[in-house]
Amino acid sequence: MKLVLCLATLVATTTCFSLSNPLLQLPLHSLDDPIPGDSPVEVCDVEEPQLLQIHTMTTSPNPPERGQNLTIDGFADLSKRVEEGAYVDVDVTYGYIKLIHTTYDLCDKASTISMECPLEKGPYKLQKQVAIPDQVPPGKYVVTARAYTKEDELITCLSAEVVFPPYGSID
Ligand SMILES: *[C@@H]1O[C@H](CO)[C@@H](O)[C@H](O)[C@H]1NC(C)=O
Repeated sequence: MKLVLCLATLVATTTCFSLSNPLLQLPLHSLDDPIPGDSPVEVCDVEEPQLLQIHTMTTSPNPPERGQNLTIDGFADLSKRVEEGAYVDVDVTYGYIKLIHTTYDLCDKASTISMECPLEKGPYKLQKQVAIPDQVPPGKYVVTARAYTKEDELITCLSAEVVFPPYGSID
């Protein structure tokens, strides 16, 4: 689950902070499978084998709310050791606008949440809080994160769709 934690952290920070220089582009499409548990996150590219099998994931609150801490809990199994050189491609769309396409070093990101590469094969448990800023613009965000090993094997493809309501609205 540590990998998912990295990804979820990325997802929250990239979604919340990068709204400059949008490029017009259609969102990416792939086959998705829901993950058991109460969260907006799905496994994507399910037609491709993936090294991380996610058993459950829960986010609280679900859906995420601006100005609140988002707590992420989950369990997963990593079927193969992941070494330095692993990376994550992250795409964020806002409506039909592609906001972000960027690549992170997975092991660098892991170290910011006190994990270390290599990530050993085996079960992972996650609990992590992410603060969602008050200033997130209203609208629909789709975040897709694909993590790969150094040898370009797919570790996981995760996708989440979150809609932030207009400012001042009450659920
Ligand atoms: C979020 O968590 C931090 C650290 O635990 C805490 O200081 C802060 O008050 C929390 N914010 C909200 C809105 O609950």
